[in-house]
Amino acid sequence: MTGASAGIGEAFAERLAADRTDLVLVARRLDRLEQLAERLERQRRVAVEVLAADLTDPEDLASLAGRLAERPPDLLVNNAGFGSSGPFARLPVDGELGQIQLNVLALVRLTHAVVPGMVERGRGDVINVSSLASLSPLPFSTTYGATKAFVTSFTEGLAEELRGSGVRMQALLPGFTRTEFQEVAGVDTGGVPEMAWMSAEAVVEASLAALARGDVRCIPGGANRVVAVVQGSTPSALTRRLLGAFMRRTMDE
Ligand SMILES: NC(=O)c1ccc[n+]([C@@H]2O[C@H](COP(=O)([O-])OP(=O)(O)OC[C@H]3O[C@@H](n4cnc5c(N)ncnc54)[C@H](OP(=O)(O)O)[C@@H]3O)[C@@H](O)[C@H]2O)c1
Repeated sequence: MTGASAGIGEAFAERLAADRTDLVLVARRLDRLEQLAERLERQRRVAVEVLAADLTDPEDLASLAGRLAERPPDLLVNNAGFGSSGPFARLPVDGELGQIQLNVLALVRLTHAVVPGMVERGRGDVINVSSLASLSPLPFSTTYGATKAFVTSFTEGLAEELRGSGVRMQALLPGFTRTEFQEVAGVDTGGVPEMAWMSAEAVVEASLAALARGDVRCIPGGANRVVAVVQGSTPSALTRRLLGAFMRRTMDE
């Protein structure tokens, strides 16, 4: 589980531990991982290992990939990710490249580390956390939207490649979810209506139910599914304009 120190990753850890699943938790903030591990071991009686790693760091990523290739887990959740918001030309380039490193490169590298072993074993699951934002360009979070478009396309392509192998892939496409994400991305969500929000716990619940059904794409929550359907039937140039206008209003300026 990557990005287990907060938000959706932490909720995955809580829910899987409640199902008596042993866990390996990865993120940069070791103190948060240790507190979570201690609580889950005590309350749920599962074995939890914590690994502090910055997945944008090539050495940390290679070391985690090596470990996963040696001992592929039953389930890999590629959840760690972040976004930015603002006019692309004014955003620091390191943050834009960092999103590609974490949301795309690390996810591909870790998926590649586990899939061969899972195929050999004839079973295994990979959940790649994408976003509803993957379904069309997202002006003023342009790099983020593009990384998530990659994640959805990559995951669904690979799911088809792996059909019949016993290895299942899921692209999880949450909409607005109450976590630290919006603060990290610098998005002012004051104008987002209450009904658009989901809890991280509800997102995880939907993801695991979809995994049990074998759904390749999981869009959690009725409101998010309506957005996806409306978006899919709207001309892409119009969606882009509307999202651009919406994002302009949510920017912290
Ligand atoms: N919240 C939403 O509205 C929303 C909507 C759609 C999709 N998503 C996606 O959901 C996923 C989880 O996000 P969240 O909402 O739970 O956000 P969050 O609360 O900010 O959690 C992000 C997690 O990623 C970890 N992380 C960040 N940079 C990392 C790095 N360089 N190396 C290793 N771990 C790193 C963070 O841990 P450390 O800081 O300790 O490293 C944290 O555990 C992301 O992929 C995000 O794009 C979120």
